[in-house]
Amino acid sequence: MNKRKKHKILVIHGPNLHLLGKREPGIYGGDTLAQINKELRAKAAKKNVAIRIIQSNSEGEIVEEITNTQYDFLIMNPAAYTHTSVAIRDALLGVDAAAIEVHLSNVYKREDFRKKSLVSDVVLGVISGFGKTSYLLALDAAIIFLQGEFLKKKSS
Ligand code: DQA
Repeated sequence: MNKRKKHKILVIHGPNLHLLGKREPGIYGGDTLAQINKELRAKAAKKNVAIRIIQSNSEGEIVEEITNTQYDFLIMNPAAYTHTSVAIRDALLGVDAAAIEVHLSNVYKREDFRKKSLVSDVVLGVISGFGKTSYLLALDAAIIFLQGEFLKKKSS
C-alpha cells in the first residue's frame, strides 16, 4: 500500500460562479458548478489526491480560505475579483501559495477591463478560455507539479 501522505488541493470558485449553467452560457458554457465539481472530484479520486472545493461571493471569505486552509496547491478562479482584488493578491503572496489562476472564458478576448489580472504575476500560471476543461487542465497541472515533474523539466 502507498503510505505517502495524500497531496491536498484546494479549489476556490469566486463570485457569481454559483450561477454557472444559467449565467451567460454563450460565454461560460452550459455546465453547472455542481457538474464541474463532480468531474474535479472524480479526477482527484482517480489520481489519489485530496480535494476541497469551495465557492464564495465574498472577498473576505476567499482571503480566509487562502490563508487559513491547509493545502499543497491552490486552483482558483477569482472571477470578477481577478481584476480588482489587492486583498486576494496579498493573501497569495502572504502564504507563498503554489497556485494556478483559472478562467472559463478567454479573458484576453473580452472587454479591456478583463485583460488586467492582479493575480497572474503571483501564481505559477494561468489557464483561460477552455470552459470547464480549464479546471480539469489545472488539476492535471497541479498534480504534475506536486509530483515534482515541473522541477525536473526546468533543470533538464
Ligand atoms: C471569469 C472571467 C471574469 O472576468 C468574470 O468576472 C467571471 C468569470 C471566467 O471564468 O471566465 O466571473 O473568471
